[in-house]
Amino acid sequence: MTRIAVVEGDGIGKEVIPVAARALSVLRPDWEQVRLELGFERWRRTGTALDDRDLELLRSVDAVLFGAVQSAPNGEYPSVVLALRRALGLFANIRPIRGGGADLVVVRENSEGLYAGRERVEADRACTERVITRTGTERIARTACRLAAGRRHLTIGHKANVLAADRFFLEIARGVAAGEGVAVDDAFIDALCLDVLRRPERYDVILVENMFGDILSDVAAFHVGGLGLLPSANLGDRYALFEPVHGSAPDIAGRGIANPTAALLSAAMLLEHLGDPRAAHLLRSSVETVLFRGERTPDLGGTATTMEFGDAVLVSLQKMV
Ligand code: IPM
Ligand code: MN
Repeated sequence: MTRIAVVEGDGIGKEVIPVAARALSVLRPDWEQVRLELGFERWRRTGTALDDRDLELLRSVDAVLFGAVQSAPNGEYPSVVLALRRALGLFANIRPIRGGGADLVVVRENSEGLYAGRERVEADRACTERVITRTGTERIARTACRLAAGRRHLTIGHKANVLAADRFFLEIARGVAAGEGVAVDDAFIDALCLDVLRRPERYDVILVENMFGDILSDVAAFHVGGLGLLPSANLGDRYALFEPVHGSAPDIAGRGIANPTAALLSAAMLLEHLGDPRAAHLLRSSVETVLFRGERTPDLGGTATTMEFGDAVLVSLQKMV
């Protein structure tokens, strides 16, 4: 039987993930959902945010649906999101941005660069090392090429005019694309951020290293109405975790106004990954139908609550299944 782990996490994760989990139970009542608590709230109660037994459970399921975890206020525990990506070998972060004239996919390297945790803080200086490896670049470039092969083309975003590590990344990624017969161009990341806003139609699959991908995906979210709408997949050779791009958003948490769209679309990516494109399509159509009718949460100028929006999606879904 297919088993998925459902992790709400903290903040608005507790509000949006239940909506997505309900949609999954409507579409796949035959799948088992295993709940797991991780993050800040749990750390406050028990003293651990994530431990080896959690990882064992997460490694035993077919996929993970993940909300968001609040960072430790004073670094009491390391980032749970980064720890999960590392422990599960989730080297590829796939972030599709579809809508408002954009139809692109940011393919973000998810394990290296500035987020690899190689840091030193001394009295008068602090240093974060940005390491880019051949193996890491080749595997993410292959992922991007596979995606681009079924679409239009590939753009590599970088800062090779300044950084040696980026000349290395660019050269290796270009080599992989040439080997796979994928049409490729490239752009400086700063100019690319502006151009993606101005002329999104010129872009399709965009390959970037870790931090550039973090920033570029938030920038590109402009086209779809913000972070409340962006889903993502974290993929490795063995495990897969799906999460909204937004974080725990403590500023709006607990008010019932978070947009569950990103979580619902992340669940659609999970369905597709586990071999059910039909269910994924039904879920996306239901979300679109409700948004199109104008039932929207406040981030999109509407007055619907998380629950009202979620209920509307579920009603539409139930009519389709
Ligand atoms: C994201 C988030 C995370 C990241 C943080 C919470 C570690 O900003 O998924 O984009 O930078 O990867
Ligand atoms: Mn981010």
